[in-house]
Amino acid sequence: MSKIIATGKYAPQLAVSNLDLEKIIDTSDDWIYTRTGIRKRRISQSESTLDLTYKAALNAIEKNNINIDTIDLIIVATVTPDHFMPSTACLLQSKLGIDHLQVTSFDINAACTGLIYGIQIADKFISSRSHKRALIVGAETFSKVLDWEDRGTCVLFGDGAGAVILDGEEDKILSDYTNSSGDKLLHLTLPAVPLENPFGAEKKEISRYLTMNGSEIFKFATFAIKDSIDFVLEQCNLNIDDIAYIVPHQANQRIIAKVARVMKIPLDKFYMNVEHYGNTSAASIGIALDDLYETKNLKSGDKIILVGFGGGLTWGSILYEY
Ligand code: ACO
Repeated sequence: MSKIIATGKYAPQLAVSNLDLEKIIDTSDDWIYTRTGIRKRRISQSESTLDLTYKAALNAIEKNNINIDTIDLIIVATVTPDHFMPSTACLLQSKLGIDHLQVTSFDINAACTGLIYGIQIADKFISSRSHKRALIVGAETFSKVLDWEDRGTCVLFGDGAGAVILDGEEDKILSDYTNSSGDKLLHLTLPAVPLENPFGAEKKEISRYLTMNGSEIFKFATFAIKDSIDFVLEQCNLNIDDIAYIVPHQANQRIIAKVARVMKIPLDKFYMNVEHYGNTSAASIGIALDDLYETKNLKSGDKIILVGFGGGLTWGSILYEY
């Protein structure tokens, strides 16, 4: 029931290259690049998740001359908020100065699938006519939850934020799909605050870092991308030749190369920028979509598929007509 009327992005200025990482851990540019396609990632030195969220939202708003008073739904997808409460969405609403009579603001957690879940939720709100215009931001400061001594994870991620604004005037979302499974949830985890109180719950030391079983996540990701693409194509009775671009969650170039081989899709149909940003989790699809809009000359009627997959495990897709 809705159309993307604006996209925006923001990433911290500091670009940390694989060569920079060689100076602090036992790794190499060659190892990282051949296994992931990543050359550098942006790392925040002082900006919070809210700062990144705000700058990506503002980028979308200013580039497209959006009147902020028309926004009545704000959804932020993040697993690295600054606070449990207030939500990042409420903090963003306050920082943007959106203060009219009815605004609904909340955060969601679907890890790297967050933007897909956010777009699907916003589209349902708009379809029900309860809301007219939604700002959805995926934003992460993953650098604060990485164990910088664990070379198996710290080389993969970066900080950033990507935003989209959906409006109910036109219907360009042709199909949407989300899915989740608790089956393999322990392969990707990020603990929160442990239970501790004076009534028997004793303090437990728990890790504050992200953990990942890389090979299991690799297998899951290849399944999830194929499943998500197949689902929306089938819903719309389309085939892959009808699609101009696929914008996948930017986790790893090698995962995408494998999916392209298995599904017999030309690799250049997948829009990738993981080389420059690393894996920015919930931010990655928004950043990539904004880059796609800026660098490729999309024509009215071009069809694109956004695909997410991540912790939960969660996955899903949006088939969208430009
Ligand atoms: N630099 C150098 N060597 C390393 C590094 C590193 N940064 N990390 C691991 N190694 C070593 C390991 O210690 C191991 O050495 P050993 O054989 O002496 O024990 C060797 O490299 C091979 O390790 P593997 O884990 O088997 O490497 P693999 O080829 O599987 O690649 C990777 C690891 C890149 C993480 C891969 O499993 C992968 O791409 N998984 C998908 C995970 C992913 O993209 N997650 C993103 C987050 S989840 C999400 O966004 C949904």
